[in-house]
Amino acid sequence: MQATLLVVDDDRDIREIIRQVAEIKDYEVIEAEDATVGLEKMRTMAPDLSILDVGLPGGIDGVELCQQIHEIAPQHPVLIISGQATPEKAVEALKHGAFDYLGKPLNLEKLMLLVDRALSSAATAREIERVSDERKAVYGFDRLVGNCKQMHHVIDTAQKVAAVQFATVLLTGESGTGKELVAHAIHLASPNADKPFVEVNCAAMPETLLEAELFGYEKGAFTDAKQRKRGLFEVASGGTFFLDEIGEMPLNLQVKLLKVIEERTFRRVGGTQPLQMKFRLIAATNANLMEQIETGKFRRDLYYRLAVFAIHLPPLRERGHDTVDIAMHFVEKFNREFGKNIKGISPDAERLLTSYNWPGNIRELRNAVERAVLIGVGPYIQANDLAVLPMQESPAPSKMSMPESDIDAMLDNRDNFSIDVPQTGVNLEEVEKQLIRIAMRHCKNNASAAARFLRMTRETLRYRLKKYGIREEMEA
Ligand SMILES: Nc1ncnc2c1ncn2[C@@H]1O[C@H](COP(=O)(O)OP(=O)(O)OP(=O)(O)O)[C@@H](O)[C@H]1O
Ligand SMILES: [Mg+2]
Repeated sequence: MQATLLVVDDDRDIREIIRQVAEIKDYEVIEAEDATVGLEKMRTMAPDLSILDVGLPGGIDGVELCQQIHEIAPQHPVLIISGQATPEKAVEALKHGAFDYLGKPLNLEKLMLLVDRALSSAATAREIERVSDERKAVYGFDRLVGNCKQMHHVIDTAQKVAAVQFATVLLTGESGTGKELVAHAIHLASPNADKPFVEVNCAAMPETLLEAELFGYEKGAFTDAKQRKRGLFEVASGGTFFLDEIGEMPLNLQVKLLKVIEERTFRRVGGTQPLQMKFRLIAATNANLMEQIETGKFRRDLYYRLAVFAIHLPPLRERGHDTVDIAMHFVEKFNREFGKNIKGISPDAERLLTSYNWPGNIRELRNAVERAVLIGVGPYIQANDLAVLPMQESPAPSKMSMPESDIDAMLDNRDNFSIDVPQTGVNLEEVEKQLIRIAMRHCKNNASAAARFLRMTRETLRYRLKKYGIREEMEA
C-alpha cells in the first residue's frame, strides 16, 4: 500500500470514481460524506493526503475543513475539488495552504498526477525538517551548555536577535568561548535557517583576495579575473554571513563593509550594478575593539554599525559551576566516541575544574576532557587525568597546556598507566590517532617534543602525522 487518501465529498459517485482510479495506483482510500466525518477520520486514521470538495453539507465547506485539518496536521497535503467554477474559492483554498485546486468535471488523470506531486513534495518537506532538526541538534542553542546568569543572558539575547530577520550581530569574547557556536545557533533559530550559512575568517586572507571573495568580481576587473565570479555576499543571499576575526579586517575593507551595511547594497569589484544585501551579518572577534579604535586599527563608525546587537561571551573562569556541567557534557560526548563508560568527575577533579583559569576557555576544557576520558581508568575522572594545574594568575598564552613538570612525571611513570578498553573492542589506528593528536596538542604542535612524549623517533611520528592527516587538521 503506497499511501492513504481521504476523500471528502457528499457525492457518492465522485467518491467511488476517485476510489477506483486511486486503487489502481495502489493507494488506499478512506471516504467521508461531510466535514465532521472527514475530521473524525483525519484524527483516527491519519491519512497521508486529503481530497476535499468545496461545497459540503452541514455548514463547514471544503476550504474551512482544509484549515481545520491543518490545525491537526500543519504539513498535511490537501487538494481541493469543486463543481462550481469559483476562482475566488480556488484562491482562498490556496491561501489557506491547499496544495492545488481542480474543477469538476474531474480530469482523473490530472487529479492522480496532483496526488503524486503533493505526496512527494510533502515527503521532501518532511526530509528537510528532519535534516534541519538534526542540524539544530548539532549546532542549535540546545548544544550550548550554560546555566550561569551571564549565559542565560547571552542565550536570551541571541534568541531574540535570531528572530529579527537580517539583524546585524557582533559577538565578542576570548578565544574558545563559543562565538562560532552562537553564530550557528542564531542562524539555525532564525526564519532563514534553511538558507546558506557562509563564513569567512578575515585573518586568513590578504586584503585583495578578501575583497574579491566577499564582493565577487566582473570579468576583466583585474588581470586574473578571466570570468565573472559571484562573491560570498551573494552566496549568502537569504541566509547568514559570519565574518570571523573582524578585528583583523584591513581599514580599507572596513570602509567598504560600512558602506554595505549603511546602504544595504554592494557591487562586484569592477561592477556597476548594485546588488542587495540580503543576509544577516554576524561579526565576531576576540580582540578588544575599543582598544583598536583608540589605536586607529578599527573604525569607530563601523563598530557602532556592527554593535547594534552586541553579545559578549564571558570567559569560562567566570561561569562558576558551568565549567563542571560543560565538562560532563564532554564526558558524555567522548564516552560515545571512544566507547567508554566514565560515570562522572571526582570531587578533586571538580575542584580543579573550577579553580583553573582556562585561558583557552571551552576549547581547552574540551581537549582536557577528551584526554581524560581516553586515558582514565576508573569510573570517575581524577584531577591527574585532566593535565591542568590550578592557577591563580593567567599563564603566558604561549605556555603549554600541560606543564613540563607534569610531562616529566608522566615520563617517569611511563609504564604505570593503563587504558580502559571497552567490551566492544577498539580500533587500534583510531586510538593511535587520538594519542598522537593529544601529544601534539600538549606539545603545542612541536613535533620533536611530541615524538619524545610518545617515545618514537621524529621520523616515525612525521610519517604517522602525514598518514593520518593530523597536521592539516591542527592547522585548520
Ligand atoms: N556553552 C557551550 N557548551 C558546550 N560547548 C561549547 C560551549 N561553548 C563553546 N563550546 C564548544 O567549544 C569549542 C570552542 O567554541 P567556538 O569555536 O565557538 O569558540 P570561538 O569563540 O569561536 O573561539 P575563537 O575565538 O578561537 O574562534 C567548540 O568545540 C564549541 O562547540
Ligand atoms: Mg571561532
